[in-house]
Amino acid sequence: MWNETKATMTPFNDDPYRPRYHFTPRQGWMNDPKPFFWNGEYHVFFQHNPNGAFWGTMHWGHARSRDLVHWEELPIALAPTPGGPDGDGCFTGCVVRGDDKRFHILYTGIPRLHPLTQVQCHAVSDDLITWEKTPEPVIDAPPPGFGECFRDPQAWKEDDGNWYQVIGSEQIERKGGVALLYRSDGDDLRRWEYLHPLFGGNSSETGHDFECPDFFPLGDNRQVLLSSRNKTWWHAGTYDSELHRFTRDAWGACDNGSFYAAKTLLDGHGQRLLFGWIQETRPSEAQIAAGWSGALSLPRVVTLGGDGLPRFTPAPELAALRGTHHAFENLSLTRDTMTLGTFPDMLEIEARLEQATGNAGLLLDFGEQRERLDLAQPPTSQEELTLRVFVDRSVVEVFVNERICHTHRIY
Ligand code: FRU
Repeated sequence: MWNETKATMTPFNDDPYRPRYHFTPRQGWMNDPKPFFWNGEYHVFFQHNPNGAFWGTMHWGHARSRDLVHWEELPIALAPTPGGPDGDGCFTGCVVRGDDKRFHILYTGIPRLHPLTQVQCHAVSDDLITWEKTPEPVIDAPPPGFGECFRDPQAWKEDDGNWYQVIGSEQIERKGGVALLYRSDGDDLRRWEYLHPLFGGNSSETGHDFECPDFFPLGDNRQVLLSSRNKTWWHAGTYDSELHRFTRDAWGACDNGSFYAAKTLLDGHGQRLLFGWIQETRPSEAQIAAGWSGALSLPRVVTLGGDGLPRFTPAPELAALRGTHHAFENLSLTRDTMTLGTFPDMLEIEARLEQATGNAGLLLDFGEQRERLDLAQPPTSQEELTLRVFVDRSVVEVFVNERICHTHRIY
C-alpha cells in the first residue's frame, strides 16, 4: 500500500479523484508533457490552459521533480503573445540545451486557430524559468506536398555536429503520418533547412498524422520513433545517420488506454523515461467543475528487449512510495473469484500468474459508486503473466509483462 504521507500533497484535497502522486496542474487543463532532464532535476513542460479545465489558449506549464515522485508546479514558461506568431496558442515542442549552454524551446506557434495556421517558433532561457521568445517564426511554412498537420518539433544533436529536428505531419489524402526531417545551420537552433521525410506510416496502422514525434536511440544499434494519433505508437528499427533515413521493422502501441502524446527524456543515470498525458474520461462539465484536468503518467523506463523491441517498466524510484506490504503466495486460482482483501485507493500491486488454462487476472472493485476494472488476460502463451498495477485514486496504470500498458480512469 502506498504511504499517504510520502505521496505528493495536492492543494485541493476535496476532490477524491485527484491523484496524489501523479502530477496534476493546480488549476486548469493539461495535455502533452515535454520532459527534459538537467542537473539532477526532472522538468516536465506541458500544454496548459490556466483559465479553466478545458482545452484552449495553450500555454506551456512547467513542473519539476528531484526524485520522480514529488512534483512542484513552477511559473508558466510560455504564454501566447497577442498578435504574434503564437497569438492563438503555444503548441507542443521540445526543450534542448544548445551548444551555447543556454536552454532552447522549439515549439509550434498558432497565429490563428481558425483556419488552423502552424509555424515553428523558438524561445531561449538561462534558467528554464524565464523564457525570451524569438519574435519571428524560425520556420514559417511547411514544405509543399503534405497535409494539414505541421507541428510538435523534437530536436537532437548528431555526431556530425549538426542539430536535427522532426516535425509531425501527414501525407496527402490521409495516407498516414509522416515525420519531416530538418537540419540546423551549424549550431544555430533558429536556422533550419528541410531535408526529407524521415519516415512515413500507414493510416490503417498508426493514424493519418504524426502528432508529437520523438526520436531516440535504444540499446547499441536500435532506434525508436514515437508518434501519436489515437494512441502513442512506437516504431522500432534502424537509423542510417549518413543518409538520415529511418527504417522501421516493428511497431506497436505504448499504451492502450487513457494515455496520449507521450515523449521521453534521457536522465543522468542513462535512463530513457517516457511520460504521457493521462486523459480524463469523465464528462467535460465534471472536469470544469473540478477545476483541473489531466495528469502526468508515471515515468516509464524504456529499455530494449532481447527481441529488439521496447519494454516499459515503472521507474524504480517509485519504490520510495511504498508503505505496508501485503503478500499472498501460492494461491491456486479456480474458476471462482478469490477475494484478497480491501485496500485503500492508493496502492501498487505486483501479481505473478502462472497460467494453466483459461483466463487469469485481477478484478479491482472500486465499490458501489465506482466501476470495476477487470484485468483479465487471455492465455496467449505459456509464459508467466506479470501484472504491475499502480492505483492512485482515479488513475490506474497497468503494465503487463513489460510489453503492454493500459491506463484506466475510475471515477
Ligand atoms: C496533441 C496535440 C499536439 C498539439 C497540442 C495542442 O495532443 O494535438 O499535436 O501541439 O496537442 O494542445
